[in-house]
Amino acid sequence: MKKRIAIFASGAGSNAQKLIDHFRHHAFASVSLIVCNNPGAGVTEIAAAEKIELLLVDRTSLRSDEFVQLLQQKGIDFIILAGFLLKIPGSLIAAFPGHMVNIHPALLPKYGGKGMYGQFVHEAVIRAGEKESGITIHFVDEHYDHGAIIFQTTCPVSGSDTPESLAQKIHFLEHQHFAPVVERLILKEL
Ligand code: GRF
Repeated sequence: MKKRIAIFASGAGSNAQKLIDHFRHHAFASVSLIVCNNPGAGVTEIAAAEKIELLLVDRTSLRSDEFVQLLQQKGIDFIILAGFLLKIPGSLIAAFPGHMVNIHPALLPKYGGKGMYGQFVHEAVIRAGEKESGITIHFVDEHYDHGAIIFQTTCPVSGSDTPESLAQKIHFLEHQHFAPVVERLILKEL
């Protein structure tokens, strides 16, 4: 039985698209659900284009028992956070122990935590005069950007970098590494 992946995303969904592409004809796993808290997000259009079920949630429904039961009824094995901006409730984390992964656009534990997302991260890295940044893929626990680190890789930050140019480098790393890292996690389960 293929492992079923749910992607949680709030934004454009470029990482979601890369994950969908990577698992499109995969022998062991597929993306079977997209969860989003923002009806106008680009990721909702990706769900429609890819004919993948979309579940819209808000803070209240995300923390309901019914939501956990719904994911379990759908046979979800892994939850992948790809730019999901709501805090994941402990009840949901407890229901998927060791099966919930997040990607963060910086080298945790630095530049993480509440409010540290998107451009805010890159602005802070540049303001601090860092010579490198990168991505962190980690297990999710009840604290923002805090769970055990699975994978990190870096990119140089030059004096001429802007938050936008750094974001481009980071997105390149995300698109290169997120899906293979998720795949390796899943393959360990087989
Ligand atoms: C990515 O930069 C990711 O690191 C962060 O949110 C962003 C999502 O981008 N968690 P996208 O919606 O996948 O394009």
